[in-house]
Amino acid sequence: MLYLKVLVTGATGKLGSALLTQLKASDYTVRTTSRKKTEEIGEFEWVYSDLLSGEGLEAAVKDVDVIIHAATSPMKDSKNIEVTGFENLLSKAWHIKHFIYPSIVGIEDIPFKYYKLKYEAEELLRNGSVPYTIARATQFHSFIENLFLSKPLLKKYVIPGHIKFQSVDVEDFAKYLIEQIKAGPQGRANDFGGPDIMTLKEMAELKIKVNNEARKVVSISLPGKLYKSLLEGKNTSPAQKTGEITFEEYLIGKMN
Ligand SMILES: NC(=O)c1ccc[n+]([C@@H]2O[C@H](COP(=O)([O-])OP(=O)(O)OC[C@H]3O[C@@H](n4cnc5c(N)ncnc54)[C@H](OP(=O)(O)O)[C@@H]3O)[C@@H](O)[C@H]2O)c1
Repeated sequence: MLYLKVLVTGATGKLGSALLTQLKASDYTVRTTSRKKTEEIGEFEWVYSDLLSGEGLEAAVKDVDVIIHAATSPMKDSKNIEVTGFENLLSKAWHIKHFIYPSIVGIEDIPFKYYKLKYEAEELLRNGSVPYTIARATQFHSFIENLFLSKPLLKKYVIPGHIKFQSVDVEDFAKYLIEQIKAGPQGRANDFGGPDIMTLKEMAELKIKVNNEARKVVSISLPGKLYKSLLEGKNTSPAQKTGEITFEEYLIGKMN
């Protein structure tokens, strides 16, 4: 195999950790970068970098061929990290062969600030000179569970039960991103969706069943365009049910 050096940004995050687990079994030379060094980094080369200040980015990208950009900050300093910091990273990565950008399905149709910033980052790639692949995924199983199904009110999950998700396992998506290294730069790759489209109510009921919980689901409606776009399933990709691990299998896997 052609010798390639791969940089994983956001190496300590959910996606970053899944990428590292799978890259251990590959022939690629891997460098990791983040602000904190955690146990998952293990034996991999690690470089400190901060997308907010720009510190360490030059050293992180030096001599790498491929970047998988799993660093993100949806809540804090998001514009400065997702767009300004991202642009700074790209300007230092002019020499690379392939920039792989994990993005999110439906970002132009869902009125949510973080998604708008992800779209701006995609635009920087489309209008720039670095060869790239944008791979959009649906929401991770863990993300849905943590956001909606981790804090029951007394014995009830009070949730916007009618909205739909096609959640995907982060391990499946990490595998897809690693496959993109071999495939080479494609511009926009096929979207990567989970195996099933379910309402949030159905997902909550599955959690209750798998964990044998004595809880009920109370569905509420919410005002606004964001809610409407999720009701309409703008965050799903029905033609791309590519992920294999179902939400139920994810929940069962967590118990073992
Ligand atoms: N979560 C989902 O449901 C989902 C679905 C589809 C696509 N995606 C995409 O997948 C990617 C990864 O998401 P994730 O959920 O794995 O994120 P995550 O778990 O929140 O991880 C974020 C990573 O970014 C790093 N980071 C944060 N601020 C930084 C900064 N200022 N400078 C450098 N690194 C910084 C963090 O490490 P340190 O704090 O150590 O720096 C961490 O490693 C994102 O592009 C996201 O849009 C996510």
